[in-house]
Amino acid sequence: MQSAETNHSDFRVLPLEQLRWLLISYSMTGLLYWPRSPETGGATSGPSVQGIQGDEPGRLLQALRQEIGDCQRCRLHQSRTTLVFGDGSPAARLVFVGEAPGYDEDQQGMPFVGRAGRLLDRMIAAMGMQRSEVYICNVVKCRPPQNRNPSADEVTACSPFLFRQIEAIRPRVVCLLGNYATQTLLQTTLNISQLRGKDRYWRGIPVVATFHPAYLLRNPAQKASVWSDLKRVLELLKEDNQGTPL
Ligand code: URA
Repeated sequence: MQSAETNHSDFRVLPLEQLRWLLISYSMTGLLYWPRSPETGGATSGPSVQGIQGDEPGRLLQALRQEIGDCQRCRLHQSRTTLVFGDGSPAARLVFVGEAPGYDEDQQGMPFVGRAGRLLDRMIAAMGMQRSEVYICNVVKCRPPQNRNPSADEVTACSPFLFRQIEAIRPRVVCLLGNYATQTLLQTTLNISQLRGKDRYWRGIPVVATFHPAYLLRNPAQKASVWSDLKRVLELLKEDNQGTPL
């Protein structure tokens, strides 16, 4: 049994992976460039939640979406165009959680499809994964006006649905993007700089907190930290693949 907090510095990699991460870290120094995986090209295509039938997490997510319905549980419904529930595979081994939809997400009804979303796509591709095989959602499902931060009562009204999304999927790892996701899941007021870099757990699921892609766009110097966090995500996924108890 692992302790509730484990330092990332004991991360072990195979030689091939070391080479891969070395190349990636070269390509990211100071630049807003994230390598594209040759298979995906950072594409965002793939089955959406709505398209998947028959599996238990899929059914649970569909039921949850129906339960949210035309949500009016907080004031955000007044200004939203579209409620943004989530996107990706109900069978995902990895779930990303962001803060709230922005303008593009509100227009399209999909999480992370704007500028920060394109960076997240690149991060996923650089991990050797496709967007369609992970699941992406937010703490609040409706866009706050002018992209302001969600208020405490909005988070309180909406976060039970986030918790139930994660419970429905039961992924191997949850990657929390930024302060709101991290503070909401870990029930803390500490900020992301204080929380990242250590393994944490939410209801028994390993959680890796990292900077939000929108923050990364403004602070590219933090890329090395984010890569270190993403490597930890991969390591946790790999450990689980090998049957090692988490
Ligand atoms: N930022 C978020 O936190 N979520 C989105 O869906 C888009 C941008």
